[in-house]
Amino acid sequence: MDKMWSGRFSAKSAKLLDQFNASVMFDRKLYNEDIEGSIAHATMLQKQGILTKDELQSIKDGLSQIKKEIEEGSFEWKIEDEDLHMAIEKRLTSLIGDAGKKLHTARSRNDQVATDFRRYVLKSNKEIVKLLKDLMQTVLDVAKNHTETIMPGMTHLQHAQPVNFAYHLCAYLSMFKRDVNRFEDSYKRNNISPLGCAALAGTPHNIDREYTAELLGFDSVSINCLDTVSDRDFALEILFNISTLMMHISRLSEELILWSSYEFKFIELSDEYSTGSSIMPQKKNPDVPELLRGKTGRVYGALVSLLTVMKGLPLAYNKDTQEDKEGVFDAVETALISLKILKEAIKTMKVNEQNMFSASKVGHLSATDLADYLVEKCGIPFREAHFITGKAVAKAEELGIDLSDIDYKYLKEIDERIKEDVIAYLDIKNSMNARDSQGGTSVKRTKEQLEYFENYIKNMEV
Ligand code: ARG
Repeated sequence: MDKMWSGRFSAKSAKLLDQFNASVMFDRKLYNEDIEGSIAHATMLQKQGILTKDELQSIKDGLSQIKKEIEEGSFEWKIEDEDLHMAIEKRLTSLIGDAGKKLHTARSRNDQVATDFRRYVLKSNKEIVKLLKDLMQTVLDVAKNHTETIMPGMTHLQHAQPVNFAYHLCAYLSMFKRDVNRFEDSYKRNNISPLGCAALAGTPHNIDREYTAELLGFDSVSINCLDTVSDRDFALEILFNISTLMMHISRLSEELILWSSYEFKFIELSDEYSTGSSIMPQKKNPDVPELLRGKTGRVYGALVSLLTVMKGLPLAYNKDTQEDKEGVFDAVETALISLKILKEAIKTMKVNEQNMFSASKVGHLSATDLADYLVEKCGIPFREAHFITGKAVAKAEELGIDLSDIDYKYLKEIDERIKEDVIAYLDIKNSMNARDSQGGTSVKRTKEQLEYFENYIKNMEV
């Protein structure tokens, strides 16, 4: 009978129960948070006169020995111990005797796991923001070299109006900035200590929750113990934040995949970050962005899974919540490696400026400029200008050329009011620079955006 809770039981638990019930094979990942949490708790118990100085010292020594064993790989994790909390406490008692048995005074595994897991999520939040910052810096560095690199801006994946590549990348910087905001926001909201909530209702012992919160680096102490031991909003938030981040990453990945196809050839991913085919010797495949796009799915899965676990749970702790960890661990690891590899893929890719420009010369990207010319210079109502421009596009199609290359004589034939100065309006580069309104694609406006992101990244707190 070696279970910690075996007092009221007369039969040994079934092997199958142990297998089904255990979390130790995955929650051992939280060993550091658990040991630090125990040291903070014991330190507080001693300050409050609940443990003696000697007892505290032997608890600290025992825990540091256990940490060493875990890190060296000699610690024996057994599913009969159920979870990491009991595995560590049991080993502590075997190392130091009675003082180990006192550690759990005024504490429950319910506030213990809530504390450990919350601290893991907060730590992961910071790691993700740090890597997001690196990614943003890399995207910014690439963008800075391409304010004059013209490419077709699209809607419906059809050529629409010319933009520059830096401007296109600034759209992704905007998404990543919102991601950073979301992570920072969640960090602030969830930086609250559950320790001392005990099982659900607090404890009769004279504890000091403010003190353990401070020792563990929390901003404050939670308000209501019943809520705190069953709250997993912090885990749901990081899953949602990662899901949104991965959604953004999947959109950029999709563009990298398209752009590296023969049909586009806007970019070439480096050999280091591409793969080959086992049968087709000529192939160079964009596996990195494809996998990034694919991995987005498993992160959404983790979010929906935990939302479903939490749905309809009565207060307070329920064993269902043990299912909170694996999805979060997986999503965090997915986010970390995704951010690292996307950064490298972008840093090492080659941008084919000429192909981007050539693509801008098909699809009559400056058609809107002709319509704007007719409105601005000839005083023609926009609807009519739209119609006249349609005629000009049809003429260019008939001639087999792009509207930006049409000879003035054809335009004059379509409408007398069109003067020769129209030619400058049809030029693709002028067309891009004409979109000079705030947030627009002109080189001047793009540089403002780059400067904004440069400052933003510089002032980030990680
Ligand atoms: N392994 C458990 C979990 O991860 C720890 C908390 C168990 N608490 C309990 N009252 N059985 O949720």
